[in-house]
Amino acid sequence: MKYRFPKGFFWGASTSAHQVEGGLINDWSEWEKKMADNLAKQPEWWKRNGWDENIFPEMRSPNNYISGLACDHYHRYKEDFEWAKDLGHNATRFSIDWSRIEPKEGCFDEKELEHYLNKVRFLRDIGIEPFVTLWHWPLPLWLSNIGGWENKMTIDYFARFCRKVVEKLDDHVKFWIVLNEPEVFMGQSYFLGNWPPQKKSMHSSWVVLHNLLEGHKKVYMVIKNINPNAQVGIAKHNIYHEAYRNSWWNRLVKYFYDWRDNEYILNYINNYQDFIGFNHYLHDRIDGWTGKNENKHISDFGWELYPESLYFAVSELKKYKKPIYITEHGLADMDDKNRRWFLEESLKGLHRAIGEGVDVRGYLHWSLMDNFEWDKGFWPRFGLIEVNRITLARKPRKSALWYKEVCENNGF
Ligand code: GCO
Repeated sequence: MKYRFPKGFFWGASTSAHQVEGGLINDWSEWEKKMADNLAKQPEWWKRNGWDENIFPEMRSPNNYISGLACDHYHRYKEDFEWAKDLGHNATRFSIDWSRIEPKEGCFDEKELEHYLNKVRFLRDIGIEPFVTLWHWPLPLWLSNIGGWENKMTIDYFARFCRKVVEKLDDHVKFWIVLNEPEVFMGQSYFLGNWPPQKKSMHSSWVVLHNLLEGHKKVYMVIKNINPNAQVGIAKHNIYHEAYRNSWWNRLVKYFYDWRDNEYILNYINNYQDFIGFNHYLHDRIDGWTGKNENKHISDFGWELYPESLYFAVSELKKYKKPIYITEHGLADMDDKNRRWFLEESLKGLHRAIGEGVDVRGYLHWSLMDNFEWDKGFWPRFGLIEVNRITLARKPRKSALWYKEVCENNGF
């Protein structure tokens, strides 16, 4: 075998509650209902991003933008994790939905806590290591009504919610991911104003980001007090900024962008994380001020497929001297034309980085199954497993079978 990975390496895939569970009532579900008609009428937007409405006619349907039953993973998690097992995975990442656990301020739903407890027990029984995300974006309605992350009190509410969950699941969970991509949430929801609550304010963005990061620190302490052996981290999305032709100007711009997009948050919480959870999708070839990517291959989503990127992006984390788990990395590819190639080439890079001393201990692909891609709805297909939108039947894509070999052989 040419590319062998370290002993005990975690292989698997990721999901998040709102994108797969179904049946949720939170700030996102309410926003979707309000916005669906509008989102289904944006041909200019689709064109600008290179999305093809002829290939994905569901773009024109308001229904596409409503998470609704999603994949009904809430009821079908056993089936889904059995698929994961079948596909050779020994780890999985999923998230807890805050609105289920605490639908009203201070009222914690024991039944829902039990639900997640059963979920992690099930994973343990079948030999899959759970990586549990405590917050992957949506908020309970009572909380968004009082300002969500813009309100400083949310830090304490978040710590209280996390304490409940961690006390309940502690015996079965070693890896906790406190926040998913706080910077993407801040950017989309408070700076660009695309996502709920659709603000466009520098000041709010700053406040939200810092409340999130203070929340992270607080929860880190909460978890460590419950169990000093727990491993606590964040899922941070880093971009690989490439200084094109290595020119001094492009290097200077890269230096600034790296600080802004990649390092600021990791530095801020550096003493409050045992590992780095690393999400990676984007490469940005800097030439002047802006990215001029070659875009030789692109995904259904219009994102450049540049597999070399994973090697460079992950290598830039070496200086933090912490274990790294890839907690998301993948592509929208309905016909599965590029997934295997992209995976294989990316994993070669990952293998090279490990050989050069980057302490990567796991790879979780995004995503286990097709799911609800936020304000784009269901049309982008990120799944190793295809989900039929009418019957909700699951079917592994071909690339998932190739990946199974990798997982089972710990290399390829
Ligand atoms: C992310 C998001 C995921 C997206 C994925 C594809 O953390 O970036 O968590 O929810 O679905 O990134 O865009």
